[in-house]
Amino acid sequence: MTADAESAARFGLSLPTGFGTDYAGVVDQIGDGVTGFAIGDRVFGGALSRAVADFVVVDAAGETAANEAYHTPDGVDDPTAATLLIAGRTASAAVAVVSPGPDDTVLIGGAGGGVGVFAVQLARITGARVIGTGSATSADSLRELGAEPVAYGDGLADRVRALAPGGVTAAIDLHGTETVHVARELGVPDARICTIATQVDGVPSASGANAAPGAVDELARLVAAGRLRVPIGARFPIEKIRDAAELQAGRHVQGKVVIDL
Ligand SMILES: NC(=O)c1ccc[n+]([C@@H]2O[C@H](COP(=O)([O-])OP(=O)(O)OC[C@H]3O[C@@H](n4cnc5c(N)ncnc54)[C@H](OP(=O)(O)O)[C@@H]3O)[C@@H](O)[C@H]2O)c1
Repeated sequence: MTADAESAARFGLSLPTGFGTDYAGVVDQIGDGVTGFAIGDRVFGGALSRAVADFVVVDAAGETAANEAYHTPDGVDDPTAATLLIAGRTASAAVAVVSPGPDDTVLIGGAGGGVGVFAVQLARITGARVIGTGSATSADSLRELGAEPVAYGDGLADRVRALAPGGVTAAIDLHGTETVHVARELGVPDARICTIATQVDGVPSASGANAAPGAVDELARLVAAGRLRVPIGARFPIEKIRDAAELQAGRHVQGKVVIDL
């Protein structure tokens, strides 16, 4: 099996396959027995590895992971709606694991990425103080989201100590393991650390599948209410899909990448 085939198999796919999972658009057809949706409704959701397409077919009952549809509320545009499902739900699950509140200072690693922009704001909504790691390039955008930026890399623990002499009480590592190790060094108990990208023994990990029921509708409501903002780092026409994938793979996107069809 090639590396590509192995990675496809991890998601239950066989090659060749489509691309992308999040989508937003308008209902074009309805299957027999479907209730709650009508032709012309604005919808968003997930269609595992087949979302970058003119049409997707999804299970309106939403019983299969990443094969689902939600109503797009008024006030949420399609490019934003198309970012909510996977990254938003993953962030929601990760924030729920560490369950922050007004007395917490949360360190978030990789805070400016697609998942990070949701995690920062969801943690801030709970009243927590958020310190987010990023490069100097991301500092302003992290501040705009409500996080205090700190540079990742050597010396991170000292920089966080200087920013938060009272200590850090929870941490979410969205990039690798650096934030986990720094959080442990700063005395954060494993139970209040969460990873999504890399497993670390003893540290809980989260994925979108663990998110609370209703998490996706709640994200959409927060956007519609102006309490959650999704920075779109880049938009590409479908013809430039390869450029989009390469940009994302470079792991320095600020916010989400959107494909226009
Ligand atoms: N995006 C999604 O929808 C999604 C959903 C579920 C899971 N995941 C997984 O979750 C992880 C995060 O994905 P993502 O899309 O949010 O972001 P990503 O593309 O993996 O990373 C982008 C962010 O990481 C920062 N970054 C780069 N090098 C770093 C380092 N050494 N330490 C800390 N941060 C660093 C970048 O900041 P600078 O630009 O400032 O360097 C940028 O803000 C990935 O493993 C991904 O596969 C992603």
